[in-house]
Amino acid sequence: MTNEYIQEQSTPAPLDRRAFLERTIYTLMSLIAGAVSITSALYLLRPPKNQSRSDWADAGDLRDFKPGVPKQITFERNHTDGWRAFAGKDSVWVVKNPDDSVTAFVPSCTHLGCAYAWQARRGAFVCPCHGSVFSQTGQVITGPAPRPLDRYQIEQTGSRLRIGPILKSS
Ligand code: FES
Repeated sequence: MTNEYIQEQSTPAPLDRRAFLERTIYTLMSLIAGAVSITSALYLLRPPKNQSRSDWADAGDLRDFKPGVPKQITFERNHTDGWRAFAGKDSVWVVKNPDDSVTAFVPSCTHLGCAYAWQARRGAFVCPCHGSVFSQTGQVITGPAPRPLDRYQIEQTGSRLRIGPILKSS
């Protein structure tokens, strides 16, 4: 055996090096594609979260409300929108009734969704957009609102008021 022959045998051919680099690149690309595919599949196939108890929020102390005097308050709660969860501010009209029961109205008119307000002088909720008027119990006094005010589900824990999901009126 000549020296030249031994050297040729121990040095990899340029074609083998190229093949090795190609395989390495293809392997890395396959791993990256696999990781992206698995992550995407998990994101898309996981079912969205349903409304849960975390959608309830503390809205204040009922001792701060006077019977028969509606009061609008804002409170913070967690929202779930598909896969996305975020904290946001909500608003509610709270009415403490003479028998100490409580009603919590969604602050949007049932006509086209404008914000209405309590007018103590008229003893009614009045919507400025098209003039709908609602009683303190949320019933339509004057249209065009087609139905009573929507309410929030509520819970009382001691003197604390907790606001839950919306109960649509019919
Ligand atoms: S949105 Fe309130 S009356 Fe039209």
